[in-house]
Amino acid sequence: MKVLVTGGLGFIGSHTVVELQNEGFEVVIIDNLSNATEDVLKGIAAITGKTPLFEKLDLREKAAVHDFFKKHNDVTGVIHFAASKAVGESVEQPLLYYENNINSLIYLLQELQQKPEASFIFSSSCTVYGQAEKMPITEDAPVQTAMSPYGNTKQIGEEIITDTAKVTNIRAILLRYFNPVGAHSSNEIGELPLGVPQNLVPFITQTGMGLRKELSVFGDDYPTPDGTAVRDYIHVVDLAKAHVIALKRLFDKKNLQKVETFNLGTGTGSSVLEVINSFEKVSDKKLPYKIMPRREGDITEAYANTDKANNVLGWKAQLSLDEAMASAWKWEQKVRS
Ligand code: UD1
Repeated sequence: MKVLVTGGLGFIGSHTVVELQNEGFEVVIIDNLSNATEDVLKGIAAITGKTPLFEKLDLREKAAVHDFFKKHNDVTGVIHFAASKAVGESVEQPLLYYENNINSLIYLLQELQQKPEASFIFSSSCTVYGQAEKMPITEDAPVQTAMSPYGNTKQIGEEIITDTAKVTNIRAILLRYFNPVGAHSSNEIGELPLGVPQNLVPFITQTGMGLRKELSVFGDDYPTPDGTAVRDYIHVVDLAKAHVIALKRLFDKKNLQKVETFNLGTGTGSSVLEVINSFEKVSDKKLPYKIMPRREGDITEAYANTDKANNVLGWKAQLSLDEAMASAWKWEQKVRS
């Protein structure tokens, strides 16, 4: 079966391509290389022994998307990662985010709706819950007004897919990720953030390498056990495996609704200080950090109720925070060597 993975050279995309190829799927990647390089193909090939097909293409180009589906008319399964994902940048450049994240989705669905059947996996985020009232967060927790254009594109994306699935032959699964971290155990692929990382784990590993002077811990006055904010850090390899399971579920028509939603997290919340401790343990290094004011727009805590993912999807995170931090650290050292 040929599967299209958009954004397949990115962080989560590349790990998912590996898992798909390991399961025998033929993969074609679309990526516009805005936040990735073709070198990632070599990493994927080193792990799986196979180089996936690759088309450099920008999904905002409707005609190019149409031509792609004409050429690869045997694609009936799509995992859609390609999107812009920096929260701060989305506030500065809202139209870039709406154009990139929404238009690309529409053009893909316009092609898929012409097929007798199609399976679509969407990269969504726990950001749709905002600060949820109850922890851990279940899939039926209310979606709250988005705090950034980025977050809004995930909510709108979910709605576009849901409305379209109702009246077409498209079946879809919306995967709401918590905080993806870590790297492949082979050390052939990992996260490659451009510029100064905004996310906690790449900032920590870069600080460990001496590229950043110190980590700013954003807030120690949250109503949490140690005062720092709590998140659910999920190993990217676990996350990648969930995509393959979700796609097979749709291919096998095991889905119970036209559109299903699953939280992808470990179910355990970790504070910023706990993440720092984990890093210090696995790297045997002291991490320089200072306590700073809260970051605007940050929530206090978010961790997943994983019952639905465990029992309905049949997926469970296997890897620990320490394993994620150790792999992220190993990867950072390789990238800088
Ligand atoms: C962020 C995005 C979220 C997106 C996710 C993708 C915001 C407000 N949210 O989530 O929409 O889906 O990334 O991965 O940007 N922290 C520090 N110092 C740092 C960096 C982070 O203390 O230098 C803290 C943050 O305050 C937070 C935790 O670490 O409590 C995790 O931060 P981050 O990795 O940026 O993820 P989120 O903010 O949860």
